[in-house]
Amino acid sequence: MLEIQGLSAFYGRAQALFDVSLRAEKGEIIAVIGANGAGKSTLFDSVLGLTKTTGAVRLEGQDLTGQGSSEIVRRGVGYAPERFNLFPYMTVRDNLLVGAYTARGDIETNLEMVHALFPRLAERAGQETSTQSGGERQMVSLGRALMGSPRLLLVDEPTIGLAPKVCDEIAVVLRRLRDEFGLTVVIAEQNANFALSLASRVYVLESGRITAEGTAESLAKDEALAAAYFGH
Ligand SMILES: Nc1ncnc2c1ncn2[C@@H]1O[C@H](COP(=O)(O)OP(=O)(O)OP(=O)(O)O)[C@@H](O)[C@H]1O
Ligand SMILES: [Mg+2]
Repeated sequence: MLEIQGLSAFYGRAQALFDVSLRAEKGEIIAVIGANGAGKSTLFDSVLGLTKTTGAVRLEGQDLTGQGSSEIVRRGVGYAPERFNLFPYMTVRDNLLVGAYTARGDIETNLEMVHALFPRLAERAGQETSTQSGGERQMVSLGRALMGSPRLLLVDEPTIGLAPKVCDEIAVVLRRLRDEFGLTVVIAEQNANFALSLASRVYVLESGRITAEGTAESLAKDEALAAAYFGH
């Protein structure tokens, strides 16, 4: 579904990603774990065509590099960016509809699907997102990304600042998206335990480079990694 090959990303003369390669199969959840500044958001921004890059990004074999962001979304990439980035003085419903701007599917059907996944968003359709809790805003952000009928969903730090119970709710929804809708999901996380509980494979990103990759099981056994990321 997604294949990234030899991707480097630049902010002016500063390089933020170095020769990053990764892949996600259809219907798979993978995770990219890394500390602050490792390049997780840059990686997602690069898939969306928002940074200056070299290398290749392919969606089902089709090259995305050089395409505009709206075209990339139209081709089936959904993005729930870091710290939600909602329109604070718009309602839940309007924030969701923003995500349907380039929707290929039927907007009402997508809205029903989002409401089924997150019943609270139906109850709070008229609430301004500025008055919502962090967990509710994360749900709006995921819902907004789903409104465009994506085949590939990129989720940047879905658990940041959230209580364990809300993290569990988010995890349930991400699994349902894979199992019931066949979505391919890439999550970027600092919360390695959350990432390992969801992902079949994990990539470790350090200072813009992939330094380890493997199944969740094999990485959890790596002692140096365990000490660095899991505290044991
Ligand atoms: N717009 C920008 N201009 C210049 N440098 C940037 C820009 N955005 C990010 N960077 C730099 O690129 C590097 C990677 O940042 P990035 O935001 O991708 O990391 P991250 O892994 O998402 O971190 P965090 O966990 O804090 O969100 C950092 O050194 C950062 O300072
Ligand atoms: Mg980030």
